[in-house]
Amino acid sequence: MTIDECKIIDLSVVHDPRGDLTFIEGNRHVPFSIARVYFLYNVPVDAERGGHAHRALQQVVFAMSGSFRVRLDDGARTCHHWLSNPRKGLIINPMIWREIDSFSQGAVCMVLASLPYDEADYYRDYDEFLRAARNQP
Ligand code: TYD
Repeated sequence: MTIDECKIIDLSVVHDPRGDLTFIEGNRHVPFSIARVYFLYNVPVDAERGGHAHRALQQVVFAMSGSFRVRLDDGARTCHHWLSNPRKGLIINPMIWREIDSFSQGAVCMVLASLPYDEADYYRDYDEFLRAARNQP
């Protein structure tokens, strides 16, 4: 998987004088069945989250409130995305190292995940991730 495949999805919105409404269905608006939802909140502005990659997990990351930066690394190239619109989600595929930082005050990061939590699915060591991403022993 390369960082080029980590695209922004743009959800639709139902505008209403009472407030906007956006909805997400698995396998329709995101490219997998949603097995898990988690969110980061009460995040100190100088915190760094992530710092890992996944073997099989696919995720979509949303800034439900506030903003933050998501840095991606596929072992060959890096890029970053600023998320600040709750309608725009960043797809993060397997074998992509991600770091999330530059949180605004009160930011809420919501993540939709394709699989239940499994620590065995994580690469938490960057060098180990790099070797695997580059198909090195
Ligand atoms: P981690 O994925 O390392 O968080 P982040 O990438 O945001 O820095 O998870 C932090 C801790 O929370 C770790 O001990 C595992 C636990 N955790 C769960 O138990 N279930 C989950 O779904 C997630 C995402 C984390």
